[in-house]
Amino acid sequence: MPLEELRQLLATLSEPRGGDFSVIRGDCDPVPWSYRQVASRYLSPLHRVLDIGTGDGEQFLALAEYFGSGVGIDADPQMVALAEQNTPSAIACRVKFLPMDAAALEFPAASFDVVLARHAPVYPAEVIRVLRPGGVFVTQQFGARHHANITALFGCGPDGRYTRDPGQTVAAWAEAFAAHGCVIRARGEYDVPYFYRDAASLLLWLRALPVPEDFDIERHWPQIDHILREFQTPRGIATNVHRELLIVQKPG
Ligand SMILES: C[S@@+](CC[C@H](N)C(=O)[O-])C[C@H]1O[C@@H](n2cnc3c(N)ncnc32)[C@H](O)[C@@H]1O
Repeated sequence: MPLEELRQLLATLSEPRGGDFSVIRGDCDPVPWSYRQVASRYLSPLHRVLDIGTGDGEQFLALAEYFGSGVGIDADPQMVALAEQNTPSAIACRVKFLPMDAAALEFPAASFDVVLARHAPVYPAEVIRVLRPGGVFVTQQFGARHHANITALFGCGPDGRYTRDPGQTVAAWAEAFAAHGCVIRARGEYDVPYFYRDAASLLLWLRALPVPEDFDIERHWPQIDHILREFQTPRGIATNVHRELLIVQKPG
């Protein structure tokens, strides 16, 4: 697609609000688990729950019916404000959102029954500190092969960054939790075909994340043109979804 056409297409697309990617149209092969279903299995109405890197709160709020009270934290105050706006008034008395760094959680030890982190950074020593004995940590993350054919063209990782912190991988966390005496309750991954329905959906995803981190249509249009020409299939623009899951329990 010529650069001018890409420019015009991008100009017509409004920014997704917060982490709301529902405007992106895609078709995914069946996956072996749903994060919400897995996380809900570890929650009870008596539980106090922490969600790390909560973003616009959508995922955490969708779990609120399963827990008693919860706190979502995010390093970005704009995300915290959005999560507050998204909180239905009926549950505002038991779910709150705070600006905070996942690396330095401002809670006393043993404050939570369950800690969650979906597609967000994890610092195992902090998670263990704030979990009560016997408490559970559930995380789902982008796998390193997520959108591999696309990220390879930009030379970046699945989150758009050109360099990845080697400590921020599910494998490194599993090791760290085990070294602290935690039990690995479950670990899994899936890597399945995914198809963007149209160029607009692909552009929305690239710009929203952004992938690469310095996404710029003027500079990156040759790669986008390549994707649109080479990865086009009858089902859409072909790529893959790679997710990893880790569930650990602090010793009781
Ligand atoms: C990809 S979003 C995921 C949002 C949400 N958990 C979800 O699954 O939709 C990652 C979020 O982590 C937040 N984040 C990144 N680094 C952080 C840190 N060090 N401490 C707290 N939040 C952080 C970002 O601001 C962003 O909102």
